[in-house]
Amino acid sequence: MEKKRILTGIRPTGKLHFGHYFGAVCNWVKLQDQYQSFFEIADVQALTDNFNNPEKVRMNVREVTIDLLSLGIDPKKSTIFVQSTIPEIAELTVYYSNLVTMARLYRNPTVKTEIKQKKALFGNTGESVTYGFVGYPVSQAADITAFEGACVPVGEDQLPLIEQTREIVHKFNTIYGETLVVPEPVLSNNPRIKGLDGNEKMGKSLGNAIYLSDTREDIEKKIMSAVTDANKIRKDDPANPDVCMVYYYHKLLNNPNIKTVCGECKNGARGCVTCKKELIEVMNAFLEPIQKKRYYYETHPKEVDEILIEGSRYARQIAKSTMNNVRKSMQIDYFNEEI
Ligand code: TRP
Repeated sequence: MEKKRILTGIRPTGKLHFGHYFGAVCNWVKLQDQYQSFFEIADVQALTDNFNNPEKVRMNVREVTIDLLSLGIDPKKSTIFVQSTIPEIAELTVYYSNLVTMARLYRNPTVKTEIKQKKALFGNTGESVTYGFVGYPVSQAADITAFEGACVPVGEDQLPLIEQTREIVHKFNTIYGETLVVPEPVLSNNPRIKGLDGNEKMGKSLGNAIYLSDTREDIEKKIMSAVTDANKIRKDDPANPDVCMVYYYHKLLNNPNIKTVCGECKNGARGCVTCKKELIEVMNAFLEPIQKKRYYYETHPKEVDEILIEGSRYARQIAKSTMNNVRKSMQIDYFNEEI
């Protein structure tokens, strides 16, 4: 029996951090055995936010690909491709855009939050919100539906985008006849990863992230300044590990010594500096094999390009066949030959 398909995307706007890995990518690595998997490097979507910074997007297409490969996405099992190499996605976006009202787009909770964040950052009004940005959920619907039957591994923040895709598909099928497959979310219970500063979210723009490509020195600096229990003043004061980011990362990384870490912290038998030094060791041991692979791909850029070219070619075949069906249904299949 054919395996079911999954499709998910990632915006190439920076190197990947722990939030990406533990929040999503570690799950993708597992899913690639059960599903026929497509991982899209969403450069077109990244440009909706970064249209004035194309160098950044260009550079990060390869960086993110290298991160994914280093983390265990296996090009023999899965397809990694670049969004902009599939013109059918842009084409579908145009046709789908007729099926979505402006009001509906503005009501999309993900878009709403992102517009709010932009306003907080730049202090500007609706004037600076572009058509492309408000419309990116339509383009994401095209990403998903281009790969017929694709399920989407979801984090909670992406749920509204899948809902929007499902609405577009229903509307398309109602107007033009059954053509597109309604995508389903693949639920994962991955947590949102907290930042070094104790913030609920780890993020590049929040400056509280640990990158998978961080050097030993970066890691030392970051861990030594991570937030611990503010009520612990002296090194033998008892403390509460549940408010401590160092303990949080010990747990996240499955430190086999975790019971001791917790017990000693609670009864004041462990100073924060000792605890941080232990975490640095645990973290470096976790990162070492990932960074070894990273180094391999960094020094074999041709191989990375080959993986993307091959993946994009394969992805395009599937998108082309979806596009043919869509053209037929929409009665814009005028000629029997390619133009
Ligand atoms: N919007 C997603 C994000 O910001 C990235 C993405 C692009 C995506 N295309 C997708 C996710 C298709 C799921 C399916 O992380």
